[in-house]
Amino acid sequence: MPKLKNKKTAGKKIVKKKAPLAKTEKIVEPIILQTLRGMKDILPADQPYWEQLRRVTERLARDYGFSRIDLPVVEYSNLFIRSIGEGTDIVDKEMYNFVTRGGDKVSLRPEFTAGICRSYIQNGMNVLAKPVKLFSTGSVYRYDRPQEGRYREHHQVNYDAFGEQDPILDAQMIQVAHRVVQSLGIKSVQIQVNSIGCPVCRKDYIELLTNYLESKRNKLCQNCKKRLEISPLRILDCKEDKCSQVAANAPQSIDHLCEDCRVHFKTLLEYLDELDLPYIINPHLVRGLDYYTKTVFEIWSGLEEGRKNSLGGGGRYDKLIKMMGGEDTPAIGFALGMERIILEMKRVQAKSYKPPKPRVFLAQLGNLAKKKSLKLFSELEKNAILVAESFGRGSLKSQLKVANRLGVELTLILGQKETLDGTVIVKNMTTGVQETVSMDKLVDHIKKKLKTDNVVIYHNHN
Ligand code: HAM
Repeated sequence: MPKLKNKKTAGKKIVKKKAPLAKTEKIVEPIILQTLRGMKDILPADQPYWEQLRRVTERLARDYGFSRIDLPVVEYSNLFIRSIGEGTDIVDKEMYNFVTRGGDKVSLRPEFTAGICRSYIQNGMNVLAKPVKLFSTGSVYRYDRPQEGRYREHHQVNYDAFGEQDPILDAQMIQVAHRVVQSLGIKSVQIQVNSIGCPVCRKDYIELLTNYLESKRNKLCQNCKKRLEISPLRILDCKEDKCSQVAANAPQSIDHLCEDCRVHFKTLLEYLDELDLPYIINPHLVRGLDYYTKTVFEIWSGLEEGRKNSLGGGGRYDKLIKMMGGEDTPAIGFALGMERIILEMKRVQAKSYKPPKPRVFLAQLGNLAKKKSLKLFSELEKNAILVAESFGRGSLKSQLKVANRLGVELTLILGQKETLDGTVIVKNMTTGVQETVSMDKLVDHIKKKLKTDNVVIYHNHN
């Protein structure tokens, strides 16, 4: 029987109410199969470049006396705000800030230095023999506008040293930065250095600079007009044409250093000359973080038109540890951007890491042999013999095809008979000669055949 319309709903469109969701049902949001904007996977194909970079940077860290330190990716926001400085792009626009479930205000690290200083103080490293040299590497987060060489997640290698104010350390740091890029095959680099003085001489200089910039205020870009109030130094670094023109005639910090800073910078330049490093003085180099004093420097690749990304940068931060609550400790450090270095390695067709190739293939035939082959593989691996296999393939023919493709020197064949006899057939892939070798002599036999006891070359010294 058809339902009778009731009086209230007659003539009205009936909107069917959705049944309320049962308490256990949730709205299922689709999975977005994409990395976040400005973040990238580092796929296997790219790993040889990363591996080469890791090897070179870790080796140089060891050679120059740095100990490795690893820090959490998340720290209290205030650590970064106070050290990098309000008014900087990093703090004002680029930090990933959030409040934890427990109510702590925290940030993903936008750089390493603040965390390293926190750890230096927290762990009482001031009692260690100076300089305390620390090496760290990992991911860094800046909510920047992504483009080539500029990402929201990037990776850095950091070298920092605490407790030494002699400019010889400044020179050594610059030398390490140069050694890293040079060892990676990036030959054409330029080092830019400057001194931005100490709080004492910088105060007078900033006053002078501000007066000059005020007189040119209407020639500055909108951003720099704002910068005039909070960080006039950074106007010198602005990439806008009209600001560069104003900056060109601005007073320079190196002409207004106090005696201590002047001698420090002069001595540094003498060391750099002695080292024959390709440096220029860039009086407009100011860096984008507030903690620097005296020496600042950046490493640039070549000097091609249009290239605007530095490979790395750093400087002294003699006042930072004390400002954070530690004892007065001079410090200097730098970071290299790993993605930018890899882009440059690819551009100059630099060598990437070549993993050692297996020289032995293990083939198996039949169920019993297949079972034994897993164990044999691991015996060989424990003896540092690098072995390839294709356990999923059944026929000997198809396994030998793989062995041929890999270009191995020896193929070990384990069949039903050999398994029962406790032997293995060793086939020389060049001559085709086969020998039956007893299992307990196999490792020695292979090592002799490959004509070296040091079969696997794990270290590739550059
Ligand atoms: P920074 O100049 O801000 O210095 O960063 C160091 C390097 O990281 C840059 O030269 C660049 O190669 C790379 N880099 C920076 N931002 C990005 C990005 N968005 N995408 C890709 N690469 C980037 C510092 O972070 C200081 N903490 C360095 C330091 C260490 N000073 C003293 N000790």
